[in-house]
Amino acid sequence: MSKKKILITGAMGQIGTELVPYLRELYGPDHVVASGRRIKPECSFIDQGPFELLDITKPGDISAVIRKHGINTIYHLASLLSATGEEDPQTLWEINMNGLVNILEAAREPQCSIFFPSSIAVFGPDAPKVKTPQDALTRPTSIYGVSKVSGELLCDYYHLKYGLDIRGLRYPGVISNAALPGGGTTDYAVHIFYAALREGRYTCFLKEDSSIDMIYMPDVLEGAVQLMNADPAGLVHRNAFNVSAITVTPAELYRELKKHIPEFTINYEIDPVRQAIADSWPDSLDDSAARSEWKWNPKYNLETMTRDMLDVLSKKIR
Ligand code: SER
Repeated sequence: MSKKKILITGAMGQIGTELVPYLRELYGPDHVVASGRRIKPECSFIDQGPFELLDITKPGDISAVIRKHGINTIYHLASLLSATGEEDPQTLWEINMNGLVNILEAAREPQCSIFFPSSIAVFGPDAPKVKTPQDALTRPTSIYGVSKVSGELLCDYYHLKYGLDIRGLRYPGVISNAALPGGGTTDYAVHIFYAALREGRYTCFLKEDSSIDMIYMPDVLEGAVQLMNADPAGLVHRNAFNVSAITVTPAELYRELKKHIPEFTINYEIDPVRQAIADSWPDSLDDSAARSEWKWNPKYNLETMTRDMLDVLSKKIR
């Protein structure tokens, strides 16, 4: 039996909802402590292993949970996303930055390993738009992006200064079918599936030609664990790898869905805040560093992801 004792923050979010059962399957239910600021009643994993109510803005509470469960690995998912952040930048900073500082400080003495998800949002208008390189300039214009670049740097610093093993990925839009994303610019790519099945039409808040990279949840889960288990000797970057699987615009995703639901229609009502964020981000990422350093190799492309999403959601919705 593995000696990993894992804490997941933000366990009720889009990724946490699926990462908790995935890690419990791998390491055993008692080895994975889910945590969140509140309990969502619809969350299925609450009764299937340890759960702690945890507010990451309270440093003492994090240390208490780490001590109580003998935690040695943290998947730190708690974070506000890009669109929500523009509504309240100060709260985003409190959760995304001060929350990360609290996690890193609590992890120092017990030397916990940490997984820190960053984002394509670290890139701003000055970075190359197409196949944005791993080491391109990171000068974001959203507060979410600013918090993620700062987070990446802080994680690097804690590795250098205190020897903490901190690894992370820059996620593009995440497409999934268990929990909805909350307040991101890429949320359209999930909402469009629900709308196609429920209403047969969708009103998109991004322009039809806004290209952003996406990945499907099974690849998110596998990639995170693969990176955390990778031989450190092979890692040049450790923290903040570009990862990507699907490069797509709303119009292209619509056309793919229409192959399965011919009567599906779309129209566009642009949200200027989210459009400005999308315009400042890369059209696509170069993830060759992840592919060569720890063999990132996503399984789903646009066609297979769309088929699987429709398959799962049509059973859930009807
Ligand atoms: N999905 C995120 C967002 O749209 C990007 O990391 O905010």
